[in-house]
Amino acid sequence: MISITPATEAQLSIVQTIAHQTWPTTFAAILSPEQIDYMLEMMYSTDSLKTQMDGKNHVFLLAQERDNGNYLGFLSYELNYRGVPKTKIHKIYLLPASQGKGVGKQLIEAVTELAKAKQNNTLSLNVNRHNKAILFYERLGFRHVANETIDIGNGFIMDDYVMEKSL
Ligand SMILES: CC(C)(COP(=O)(O)OP(=O)(O)OC[C@H]1O[C@@H](n2cnc3c(N)ncnc32)[C@H](O)[C@@H]1OP(=O)(O)O)[C@@H](O)C(=O)NCCC(=O)NCCS
Repeated sequence: MISITPATEAQLSIVQTIAHQTWPTTFAAILSPEQIDYMLEMMYSTDSLKTQMDGKNHVFLLAQERDNGNYLGFLSYELNYRGVPKTKIHKIYLLPASQGKGVGKQLIEAVTELAKAKQNNTLSLNVNRHNKAILFYERLGFRHVANETIDIGNGFIMDDYVMEKSL
């Protein structure tokens, strides 16, 4: 059994720890070590996470094992993305040992309910086009709707699919 709760600012260090344990294995075959380091700093430094939470209205959900209190992963989302009734899932990462056990599905179900409660009618996310997580999203009913190549600076790009699901 897991519980899913919004993170406080003080709990952003949990997000950082999980990201640093998950990114290298997730992206080892997709991105260079230099790009992984660059993106971790850009997206998961304390300042960056605080700006996402306080300045950009990103909500971070933490998935926690009820029995022992261990944190297993996180999801961040933003309601009414770009002024339309769409919820953007910015991040979803589970520790390697916690993958494949239904936790990701429960996180998506949780954000589905939160989005519907605010009259949002679509979930949207970006995923690297080589990430096997695409199969997970397809299994949950997301569909590929666009490609996006995003210049993130320092000579690095993100080569993404945009995937969406109607609610
Ligand atoms: C992607 C991720 C969030 C999925 O969460 P998860 O808990 O591992 O997935 P679940 O166990 O909830 O799987 C839900 C369903 O998707 C399927 N699925 C999950 N991963 C899959 C994969 N790689 N290939 C095929 N199917 C997959 C499961 O079989 C399951 O199907 P079922 O409902 O028929 O049993 C998780 O594996 C993860 O954190 N991966 C590394 C980080 C990452 O890539 N994040 C996404 C960045 S965009």
